[in-house]
Amino acid sequence: MNVVVIPFFLAAHLTVDETWSHGPEYTFQVQVNCTAIPEEGVYGSVRLNLESKLICQPLKNGDSLSCHFEDSKANSFAADSLDPSEPATPTGQVNRQPAYEINEDQFEIKFNKRGLDDLIVNENIQPRELDMVRMIVGQLSVGATLDDIGNDVSFDAMENFTQGECYTTFKIDKKLVDRSLYAKPAYALRPTFGLKDGKLVQIRKIRNLYMCAHKVPYFFGSADSFREESDIISDASLSDGHIIITSTEFISGTSNVITTSKITEEVVTTLYENVRLRLESIQPAESEPPAVKEAESVSIFIGRWLIDNSSEEDN
Ligand SMILES: *[C@@H]1O[C@H](CO)[C@@H](O)[C@H](O)[C@H]1NC(C)=O
Ligand SMILES: *[C@@H]1O[C@H](CO)[C@@H](O)[C@H](O)[C@H]1NC(C)=O
Ligand SMILES: *[C@@H]1O[C@H](CO)[C@@H](O)[C@H](O)[C@H]1NC(C)=O
Repeated sequence: MNVVVIPFFLAAHLTVDETWSHGPEYTFQVQVNCTAIPEEGVYGSVRLNLESKLICQPLKNGDSLSCHFEDSKANSFAADSLDPSEPATPTGQVNRQPAYEINEDQFEIKFNKRGLDDLIVNENIQPRELDMVRMIVGQLSVGATLDDIGNDVSFDAMENFTQGECYTTFKIDKKLVDRSLYAKPAYALRPTFGLKDGKLVQIRKIRNLYMCAHKVPYFFGSADSFREESDIISDASLSDGHIIITSTEFISGTSNVITTSKITEEVVTTLYENVRLRLESIQPAESEPPAVKEAESVSIFIGRWLIDNSSEEDN
């Protein structure tokens, strides 16, 4: 049986005989790690780590997934380490951060052949929560057409992603990997642009943040740094994405670096952010996905609300 994991991009062949009456259910493991390092004054960093699960089912129309988050857990703590790429040891108390644990309402993601098209959410979702959802599901977006990815090793294109529309360098790497020795999974992933068995594809996206049609210096969980009345000045200096696919694995992530300062203070803080989504399992769904209650279509862009009024912000 073949199933669509990410519309237009990733399918899976399942080694099961029976057909699943409610179709498949995909579980993605979600990790968002943030490190804040003040420029001076304090020696150390503040960490915020979120773990969650994103559960999705494909809809019959073939271009959408119906999803919700589950089991979110966010913690923050202070650490000595100044290296955001290293796991850090708390120097003091670890505090639970419920405000960073993601809204669990059902929502839908509509795709087009470049990636995310729009979202359908409950109209009562708070703008801050919607932006957190966007940031994470943005990892499911390729941002380029597959014709390019199938043929080229490197190309530049305008890319729509959740934080803007920027000029992006895509680097495609296809390698032979020997994974046949590992445990036999119940499925084999197949990107729609074709990948021979035993191969790995890595798509790297290097965003040129000085060449954007628009961009938002968003930091995970922030409510107002880019909204008009804020007294915080932010700027994104790096946003790199990567997608890795083997016959058994799909991992997609983004690294962002943002600097922020308050108008009234001199202190500049640098925020390092790593978001990662990894396909954990494909299993039979127990029922059809629930409909989105009080459904409203919204754009994928952070900080924006209604699609047909995308310059309008909802406060
Ligand atoms: C997040 O932090 C945890 C714990 O330090 C680590 O195991 C994990 O690899 C990190 N994930 C990312 C995407 O940085
Ligand atoms: C990005 O999205 C905007 C608004 O939907 C659209 O006008 C534009 O053509 C898109 N750009 C790309 C490169 O897909
Ligand atoms: C759409 O935008 C216009 C002008 O910005 C505004 O007057 C109108 O109220 C907005 N409509 C909705 C539904 O937000």
